[in-house]
Amino acid sequence: MQTLSTLEVTVTTKKGFAHEIEVGLLAQSASISPKFLYDPLGSHLFTAITLLPEYYPTNTEKNIFSQHQAEITNAIGVGGTLIDLGAGNCQKAESFFNSLKPLSYLAIDFSAEYLEEAVKKLEGKYPHILMQCIGMDFSKQLLIPSAIATSKRIFFYPGSSIGNFLRPEALHLLSQIKSQGNAGGLLIGVDLMKEDSVLMAAYDDPLKVTAAFNLNILRSINLHLNSDFRVEQFRHRVKINHAENRVELYLEALEDLTVTWPGNSREFKKGELIHTENSHKYTIESIQQLLNDAGFEKTQIWTDPKNYFAVIYAQ
Ligand code: AVI
Repeated sequence: MQTLSTLEVTVTTKKGFAHEIEVGLLAQSASISPKFLYDPLGSHLFTAITLLPEYYPTNTEKNIFSQHQAEITNAIGVGGTLIDLGAGNCQKAESFFNSLKPLSYLAIDFSAEYLEEAVKKLEGKYPHILMQCIGMDFSKQLLIPSAIATSKRIFFYPGSSIGNFLRPEALHLLSQIKSQGNAGGLLIGVDLMKEDSVLMAAYDDPLKVTAAFNLNILRSINLHLNSDFRVEQFRHRVKINHAENRVELYLEALEDLTVTWPGNSREFKKGELIHTENSHKYTIESIQQLLNDAGFEKTQIWTDPKNYFAVIYAQ
């Protein structure tokens, strides 16, 4: 396996991250970018979330993939390079290896550490597929290295991760995918709007796995910023914002407290919130509009019987 990265990029990114975190923490309404949820422990906790019966997106998407695999394969065609955005444990992409028969596979994720482990395991199983992986914060900029085959590129963006972006950011990412597709396309999973009770159960599960996932961001921030957040001083909070069609995750201070880091500090009053994530829920019309705005002209759509989730191939 080839890991594509340069020391220079890593150093600049690390400095950039500390600055970005500081700006978020010092804002009047504090926030932390959701990308910091995915440190190695956070990535494992997210995998645990996907195994929860209450977290319907993973299973619903998986069922759509398996029920419509022939049609999806037919729409995409075989060969080319499969580019897995936010690859995580790479299992979803692997489920398409036998049908799509990619010549090469590029796994991209924020946490390169977790990714390398996963891609190494895959290499032994599929020696005929060229495997590469890269740690990249594609929420800012998606740049597929020129070393990656310039033949047809199939971008794979499952799990409704697009929902974690605000509309302008989502549009920016989708436009970059469209412009780097080399006449390929995008297979994307999108979570659809549904009743509050289903959403609340999915994002505030009784086993508290999502709470652990959310709270772990404070440990991840302590490492990046050298700050002294104490996890036990916060709790997981979920709100549904109907005006914006999204689920919002927060961490709520359980007492008055001060967090410090080299060169600065921030006071939190009891009850004050840190915004950590948005998870937008689309309608078929709103996601089609977004894809059209990003330059995709053709969409093929598959959904589940409850219309909880949509899988779309866009070209
Ligand atoms: C990765 N992303 C699509 C998940 C979501 O549903 O928005 C992240 C997540 N946050 C809490 N639970 C899952």
